[in-house]
Amino acid sequence: MMMTERLNAGVKKYVEDGKRKQQEEQARRNLMKTKRFDTIAAHGLYGMEDAMNNQDSIMEPLTVSPAQHFENSDHLEAALSYLTPAWGYTRIHNPSLHYLEGTLAMLEGYGFSGETTAAMTGSGMGAIFMATNPFLENSVSGVNFVADAKCYGGTFMLFNERYGRERDIDVRWVQDTSNIDAWTTMIDGNTRFIYVEMPSNPSLTVVDLERLADLAHDHGIPLIVDSTLTTPALMRPICHGADIVVHSISKAIGGSGSAIAGVIVSRNNIPSKVGSDDMLENFAGYVKLWPMRDHGTALSPLSAHFILNDLRTLRTRVDVMSKNAIKVAEFLDQHEGVEAVHYPGLPSNAGYEVASKYMWLVDGDENGAGVNRYGHLMGFIVRGGEQAARKVLDKLELIWRATDLGRHKSVAVIPAISTHQQQGDEGRELAAIPSNLIRLSVGMEHPDDIIVDLKKALH
Ligand SMILES: Cc1ncc(COP(=O)(O)O)c(C=O)c1O
Repeated sequence: MMMTERLNAGVKKYVEDGKRKQQEEQARRNLMKTKRFDTIAAHGLYGMEDAMNNQDSIMEPLTVSPAQHFENSDHLEAALSYLTPAWGYTRIHNPSLHYLEGTLAMLEGYGFSGETTAAMTGSGMGAIFMATNPFLENSVSGVNFVADAKCYGGTFMLFNERYGRERDIDVRWVQDTSNIDAWTTMIDGNTRFIYVEMPSNPSLTVVDLERLADLAHDHGIPLIVDSTLTTPALMRPICHGADIVVHSISKAIGGSGSAIAGVIVSRNNIPSKVGSDDMLENFAGYVKLWPMRDHGTALSPLSAHFILNDLRTLRTRVDVMSKNAIKVAEFLDQHEGVEAVHYPGLPSNAGYEVASKYMWLVDGDENGAGVNRYGHLMGFIVRGGEQAARKVLDKLELIWRATDLGRHKSVAVIPAISTHQQQGDEGRELAAIPSNLIRLSVGMEHPDDIIVDLKKALH
């Protein structure tokens, strides 16, 4: 960042204006932090003062312009030196992204006493890359990280192929992820971070986040959590000690299915053995202004606009989908054509106790009473092997066959031949994904109709 003493008086004026704007925005954030989750989701960072600068619109701006016009060269210099808030150029800053980031940071930090910051990315994979890559810079021999082997197939490929094979970084896979000792034995002095998916896609394995965060912090490294499957409506890992959270926003947060997107949310002052003070103080803010500027992983403003509208109904949608999902899971669990159901809301599931500790509908039911909800995703193993599973998938008439999840519409897929195909037999064995596993994302339809479709397909 540029030293302010060397700036001329005109530039300094814009710097002072910027400080005032930041204070006003902080006041808005402080106000909204006193509100409930649904209120934050509906209004977010955008208040009446913002509307006055947006033709009095009660909706946040959709600014598709790539660039901002500056009043003069002083304004230009202040903005491009990051010394005053500005929209400059959409790869770095944009109003539509800004209001979405501000709202997501508050929702993910709901219930957390400290500050949280968010940075939107062009996809969930963009978020995972940008959340992990800064810790792997200046790699010296022996640099490693410890990661959940049951993660989403795309994450597996990023870690195994791009980091492991291409850059010779030691990726240490943990298979028995619910066992904290299995993580402990993998960590050494060159470990840069711990990465976990909670719950994992598609095995729905859960892990005790607080114990994992303690383990990471005992070693002076950050815990990074992908909580795409819960969304902040069910679980906010930062409240349980995590340092950085990533989401594929393309899923339940953007439930209407109008956009691909990702987000990084971090709490301030994260632990790490590498990185500048700026990076550790505000990781997501740093990533947005510096590495993302250079890697070019920005989200389109149009996508941000769609997502902001989806976000407003997040808690209600997640509640309905979760209530439908438990009914569907109970049906599948009783069906003779099904060998096993992976759903953390079933009391017979190995992760039930841990899931019940972490997965709660934010702000409770309609009377405000705390209720566990276990999300929309499940896996079920079809009796009879791969061909039997293919037949079930092919017979579905209402549930879509697609590599997608978190939609209003129910969607199913066989991970071994799709989302987790490219990681090969060895990778799937690590992730415990048999060829007769069907992943089912339960939507907002009436659960009886979903069950009828499954009953016919399993016949
Ligand atoms: C748990 C999880 N994380 C990350 C991703 C990647 O997100 P995207 O497809 O938005 O890049 C996915 C995609 O399915 C996912 O399921």
